[in-house]
Amino acid sequence: MGENRYRRRVEGSVRLTVQRTLHGRRIGRPLRKSRQLLVDNLLPTLEIAVPASEESVDPATFFAPDMRNIWLEIGFGSGEHLVRQAIENPSVGFIGCEPFINGVARLLADIEKHDIKNVRIFRDDARILLRAMPDQSIGRTFILFPDPWPKKRHHKRRIIGPLTIPFLTHLMRIGAELRIATDDPSYKEWILQYLLACEAFEWRARQPRDWRIRPEDWPPTRYEKKANEAGRQCTYFMFDRQG
Ligand SMILES: C[S@@+](CC[C@H](N)C(=O)[O-])C[C@H]1O[C@@H](n2cnc3c(N)ncnc32)[C@H](O)[C@@H]1O
Repeated sequence: MGENRYRRRVEGSVRLTVQRTLHGRRIGRPLRKSRQLLVDNLLPTLEIAVPASEESVDPATFFAPDMRNIWLEIGFGSGEHLVRQAIENPSVGFIGCEPFINGVARLLADIEKHDIKNVRIFRDDARILLRAMPDQSIGRTFILFPDPWPKKRHHKRRIIGPLTIPFLTHLMRIGAELRIATDDPSYKEWILQYLLACEAFEWRARQPRDWRIRPEDWPPTRYEKKANEAGRQCTYFMFDRQG
């Protein structure tokens, strides 16, 4: 099967899946007034839309012309990792995906507080954006503590898996880094199973400390803090997109 046909087939199946299977929450407690104002006024200036009619959305068009390196965070939660990365890498354009509006509102508060200019937000299922972005358009992807869906019958809800890895393969540049963290032992095995089977990604680890210790340029997240407090071991994966 030619590559284009394969992609279309994969895209078709993800489109069906996306429409029916965003299982996480989109809204929690009512937003306090200051956060609601940010959602009403700041979010529209930063939000990315993927029109249903568009074949593809070029992420470079969301940023200044000199911002050619674009990094993606899927499921940023409250955005603490995204904010730190954006501050520490001002020449990189960041796209954060998060359907939970309370998390988006927290990120907006930090964007305003630190006057951050290099973040754009997709507040929907990341798979919609993955499907729409062109090949080789992303320089790094973070998927930090994705919902683990530990029950076997829910494994197909996991964001990392056979339906999304082909999209990551296409949209990440050769040499780009894929960073994933989890505290769930069965998701850890699952991630390795699918990514080690994918020739396009090479696991960088050479010794246990490479997956047990978070690198210094990888800021901690809220979920990770909770995992550590509960005594759960976190795993930090770094894969390189191969040529
Ligand atoms: C367990 S939380 C981790 C949040 C954050 N990365 C952290 O480490 O604190 C998983 C996050 O992924 C988001 N999420 C779940 N499914 C998603 C999807 N299909 N696209 C984008 N985000 C998603 C959830 O709303 C939630 O905020």
